[in-house]
Amino acid sequence: MTDQELVDRAFAMHRFSYAPYSHFTVGAALLCRDGTVFTGCNVENAAYGSTICAERTALLKAVSEGHRDDWEAIAIAGCGEDYCWPRGSCRQMLYEFAPALRVLVARGDRSYVSMSLAQLLPQGFGPKSLV
Ligand code: THU
Repeated sequence: MTDQELVDRAFAMHRFSYAPYSHFTVGAALLCRDGTVFTGCNVENAAYGSTICAERTALLKAVSEGHRDDWEAIAIAGCGEDYCWPRGSCRQMLYEFAPALRVLVARGDRSYVSMSLAQLLPQGFGPKSLV
C-alpha cells in the first residue's frame, strides 16, 4: 500500500467521525507489515475529557485484535488548515508499541507530511525505560 492510499483510507473515516462538539473530524489508518489496515475516527463525548482520538481508536483496534509489534505506518487526517499533529498522549501511546513508526500527518486540503514518531516524540519513555 502506498502512503497516498493510507492517507486516503484515513480520510475515508471522516464519515464515521462523531464530533458534535468540536465539529473537527479526524480519521486514521494504521498499516501493519502483513498489509492489514486498522482504521479509526475520533469519538467525542459530552464529558469532553472522555473523547477518544482517531489514531487512538485505530491503535486500540489493532492491539485488541493481536497486532501490536508489526506496525509500519499510521496516517492521521484532519479537516483543518493545519496538519493534524497528534496530541502528546497519542504520541505516547503509539510509542509504546512502535517507537520507530512512520507517521503521515494530513490536513483538510488532503496534503500530508511524513515524519517519524522519533521526531514527534524525541527521547520518549517506553517499555525499555522501565528496565
Ligand atoms: N483529534 C484527533 O482525533 N486526533 C488528533 O490527532 C488531534 C485531535 C480530535 C479530538 C477531538 O475530537 C477533536 O479532534 C478536536 O480536538
